Amino acid sequence: MTVNISFSKAPHKKAEAAVLCFYDSKDQAPSVASMNYEFSGFLDHVLKKTKSFKGKNGQIEILMLPEGAPYNYVILFGCGKKEDLDKDAAEKLGGKLFAALDGKNIETVELLIDNDVPNSGEIAAYLATGFKLRSYKFEQYQTKKADDDSVKISEANFVVFDSKISEQIYTEQLCVIDGMFFARDLVNEPPNELYPDAYAKRIRDELKPLGVEIEIFDDKKMKKLGMGALMAVGQGSDNAPRMVIMRWKGDKNSTDAPLAFVGKGVTFDTGGISLKPGAGMEDMKMDMGGSAAVVGLMMALARRKAKVNVVGVVGLVENMPSARAYRPADIVKSYSGKTIEVLNTDAEGRLVLADALSYVQDVYKPSLIVDLATLTGAMMMALGHEYCGTFVTDNILWEQMDNAGKKTGERLWRMPLDEVWKKDMEGTISDVQNMAKSGRWAGACTAAAFLWHFIEDGTPWAHMDIAGTAWIKSDRDTYPKFGTGFGVRVLDRLIAENYEQM
Ligand code: BES
Ligand code: MN
Ligand code: ZN
Repeated sequence: MTVNISFSKAPHKKAEAAVLCFYDSKDQAPSVASMNYEFSGFLDHVLKKTKSFKGKNGQIEILMLPEGAPYNYVILFGCGKKEDLDKDAAEKLGGKLFAALDGKNIETVELLIDNDVPNSGEIAAYLATGFKLRSYKFEQYQTKKADDDSVKISEANFVVFDSKISEQIYTEQLCVIDGMFFARDLVNEPPNELYPDAYAKRIRDELKPLGVEIEIFDDKKMKKLGMGALMAVGQGSDNAPRMVIMRWKGDKNSTDAPLAFVGKGVTFDTGGISLKPGAGMEDMKMDMGGSAAVVGLMMALARRKAKVNVVGVVGLVENMPSARAYRPADIVKSYSGKTIEVLNTDAEGRLVLADALSYVQDVYKPSLIVDLATLTGAMMMALGHEYCGTFVTDNILWEQMDNAGKKTGERLWRMPLDEVWKKDMEGTISDVQNMAKSGRWAGACTAAAFLWHFIEDGTPWAHMDIAGTAWIKSDRDTYPKFGTGFGVRVLDRLIAENYEQM
């Protein structure tokens, strides 16, 4: 359960804790002054005596109030300088506030935002957004109920003069947050539960009620369609592959080509016959992070009824070693007709994407394609967890993505596509091969160049290698590693700002 958020013009005074904002000083903002009066001068006393609290950005003090006070606790919340408090700063602060309060025996809070904060309605909405995002938990596999001394925050009311504006902005944000949380859930699911067929059904069950059209291809159908690359990856597993096509038609009047989003959905990547080392292999449950982002994006678009036509395609397979598994040296025929020599069965993501990319172009003739994949360890080596390496054929598309990245904090970094690498991926006895002839250097770039072989000329295309950003080591010891839902937010923004009917 994540936290429930509400907004009101006046305080309800029903919460256990009041959060008071300070702006880089101990100066009393109007809300603090009025509370001080209600707490019989208690705040004056506290502020005089506490030397450490200075109202700096992110500073938080939790104080218990004496009997008779309207709240059990008052929380001093440093928000930094008023003039620096923009959307981004507010969202980060909201997250810090949640982290500081969770598990502190407080269930309900009320945060008072002063009217003299510029754009206070908008700021409140983004404080709430950060608060909500940070409240994500993945706990359905913990059968032991949390005991009393780890009471969690369940309700937060934000008091702000323009509460209607806050509510409007937050409601829109919540649609995207829902998509992000769904993507995180999918990544965090263990691979024995989230195998291709189970995953496909989960997508259908969640998205169909929202008005997304769903088509599921099973292994027979894909074989018939000639998806020999994707099928080869899945042939070593008892869990047969699936492909899910998701259509959101939010702009019924338009006959324009749809936008296409394609995701790698390897529900577990052992490497196959080119087996990965055992240490850390458990992380490879996140190898469906690209598909999760596409599914989460479709949810966000449907939840906010985006006026745009989008098709999402995810290729779902499990990469296992077995007597039936594909092997290094196999040559497979892809949906496009191009033959691929498999030189390493651990370079499987590109095979899955090749067929998904060709299919979506063949059937939907999209005006734009973005794919997301946890494609290479090399991408992690290059950019770590902070930036998502993004390969783009079209400068305008890159500008739009870069802007959306900066606005959402899901930051992108442009990576090079080069004919040299494209050539490097051409086969010696096949059309293309899944390993570069030059070896392992520029592994993220050669992987992108392989995919490029499957993009028809003229269609703007972006490939996001989310190997480093889909999955992070967190500072929460209860969740040492977890899915981020990376991609949902930046792509939702890309669409909202550039491709949606007003
Ligand atoms: N899923 C991995 C890439 C990956 C590694 C994602 C670490 C996240 C964290 C991918 O399928 C893979 O194994 N790539 C190989 C490619 C190589 C064999 C050319 C890699 O990066 O080592
Ligand atoms: Mn692999
Ligand atoms: Zn993989």
